[in-house]
Order: sequence, then C-alpha cells, then structure tokens
Amino acid sequence: MTIETEPMSDPSMRWTTLEWVGDAQSGVFRILDQTLLPEQERMIELPTAESVWEAIRSLRVRGAPAIGCAAAYGVVVGAREGAVKGSSLRSSAIAAADYLATSRPTAVNLFWALDRMKRLVDRFEGTEERELLDALLVEASTIRNEDDRMCHAIGRNGAALLADGSGVLTHCNAGGLATSDYGTALAVIYAAEESGKKIRVYADETRPLLQGARLTAWELARRGVDVTVICDNMAAVVMRERKVDAVVVGADRIAANGDAANKIGTYGVALLAKAHGLPFYVAAPSSTFDMTLEDGSGIPIEQRDPSEIRRGFGKQTVPAEVKVYNPAFDVTPAELITGLITERGVIAPVTTENIRKSLA
Ligand code: MRU
Repeated sequence: MTIETEPMSDPSMRWTTLEWVGDAQSGVFRILDQTLLPEQERMIELPTAESVWEAIRSLRVRGAPAIGCAAAYGVVVGAREGAVKGSSLRSSAIAAADYLATSRPTAVNLFWALDRMKRLVDRFEGTEERELLDALLVEASTIRNEDDRMCHAIGRNGAALLADGSGVLTHCNAGGLATSDYGTALAVIYAAEESGKKIRVYADETRPLLQGARLTAWELARRGVDVTVICDNMAAVVMRERKVDAVVVGADRIAANGDAANKIGTYGVALLAKAHGLPFYVAAPSSTFDMTLEDGSGIPIEQRDPSEIRRGFGKQTVPAEVKVYNPAFDVTPAELITGLITERGVIAPVTTENIRKSLA
C-alpha cells in the first residue's frame, strides 16, 4: 500500500527524491514516484516495509545509492510496523532488512545500507525500544546525508575532467533522482556548470524503461543544463560527429578490479567510446564498490519481467508468443574504463591495486 500525497505544482520547484518527515515514532517516509515522470510529479508515502519493497522493485525509487537510502528508511518503517503488531523492535528491524534485501539483486548499495542498519541493531545496548527506533532513524538519515556529501565530492573531483564547452554522453540516470539529491555521473556535470563551464549533454534514452529520456532529460532540464535526448542506437553517430568529448555514467556495483555493472547498454557505449578514442568515466561513491568480488563475473545481474519489452508502455511491441530476454544490467570491463570518479578522487588507470589504495 502506498499513500498518494500532493502533486508538486510549481515546475520551477526543486524536487525531493526521498525524505523522512517527522520523528521516528510518527514520521512518514516519502519518495517522488519516478514511474510517473516526466508526466506527473507526485510524492507518495511508503508506510510499510512491503510498500518500500514494492517501490524499489517497480523502480518508483531507483538508482543504486537511492535504493540504499530507501531501504535504510524501509527498515525504520518495518521495525515500527512489526512492533505495532507485537514483535520486538529488534527482530522486526532485522526481518525488515532481510526482506528488503530481496527487492533487487545488482546494486550493492542496497546490501551495504541494510548491513549498516543490521549492525546498528546488533550493537545497540539500550533497553528502551523507543531509543532503538530513534537510533535507526538517525542511522538511515546518516546514510542519506553521507550519500549527499559523497555525491558533491564526486562532482568536484570529476568536474576538472570536463573542458568548458564540451559535450558529454550519459546512459540511464545517475543523477539526483538516482541518489539522495545531487547524483554521481550528473554531479560531475552539475559541478562543472557551477564552476562556470557550459556543458552539452547527450542522454541515451535507455531502453527498455527510458530512464535517460524520462528522468535524465527531466532533471537536467530542471537544473537548466543543455540536454539532447538520443535513441540508444544513435550513440555511435553522435561520437563520430564529435558532438561529445567524453562519456560519464554511474554504476550499480564495481568489483575489486574495476569491472563495473551499470544499466544494460553501458558496455556497448564503452566499446563505442574506445572505437572513437573518447574517454569513458564511471562515477560512483565508495558504497558502490564490492571488494569481495575479484572481477565483474560474480556480479548478479537482475533479469526483469519480459513484459517491459513485450508490452512496453501498455502497447504490444513484440508478438505475444515470442521470447524476450531482459537483463537489466551489463558489466563493462575495467580495461574500457578511463577512470573511476569517486568521492576520494579519480582512480586511473583502473587497476585492483589503485582501487585498493584509494579505498583504504
Ligand atoms: O534500473 P535502475 O534505473 O535502478 O538502474 C540505474 C542505473 O543503472 C544507474 O546508472 C546506477 O544505479 C547509478 S545511479 C547513481
């Protein structure tokens, strides 16, 4: 169950991707429902762990860091809900975290945030349930605020890589909608613009769910950045015509050697960038690195419902009896990545040793 709240009426208004309003006992968790963009801007309340799970699963809230933040708040909601039904707050918090971990498999930020929430429950020494609930909300808000700080640092570190007047191609949405507020790949563009540079962005529409066309274009336009949407199959021509000077994308999980999972199609864009001699950057916070995986072959790739392709946007686009393959992510090998832009700096060349040194 979700609860619809007011539509955002002023189009010049800055949006809020996700927020907790009020205190831990009676406050509400709200998100901007991204499935409705760009047609409608509507905040919805998520009053149960199930509604948070559904919102993550159906991409009402999406993008690796935003999924982590939403799940952390989902633990607060789930703990409170369980306590109302008579379970201990401790056991309902752990149960909510385990349940939310089943919502999507690829973005490691989800598991990173849930592990932090579970560790807090483990080390909590108070006896008052009320205190634990307050502490859970503080931890969720800390995760959100840290994400915001990391995104701004990513922006500052990456902005220097873009010259004034340059064109940038991006894939999917790694912006404010995909994080607590400022983005990762788009943070680089926002920070470059804030330092006085003019950047032209080409946004791949990003089939099958059009995060580039619906979300990246919406938020860049909202922040006054020059953006042009292209179909995914136009990226090669845009590169050959030298409309872009660099590619900057986000990531859902980066293995210890730098292999990076991101929205399906990213790998193809990286190959095209190499063929055209363009730098290919991946921007991500340290919460997106999974140092337990030696390389990208171990990254679990989410397989999504074939109907997203077969009946995209309510219209039959593939004969009903024909098979559809719908992996949501792919892995770009480290050797195609010019640099990893993190809150700690730019990791280049991308090697296991450089990543370990930077994250140490
Ligand atoms: O399926 P989505 O929309 O959650 O996929 C999102 C992406 O692939 C983003 O590029 C990635 O999470 C980085 S977000 C800063």
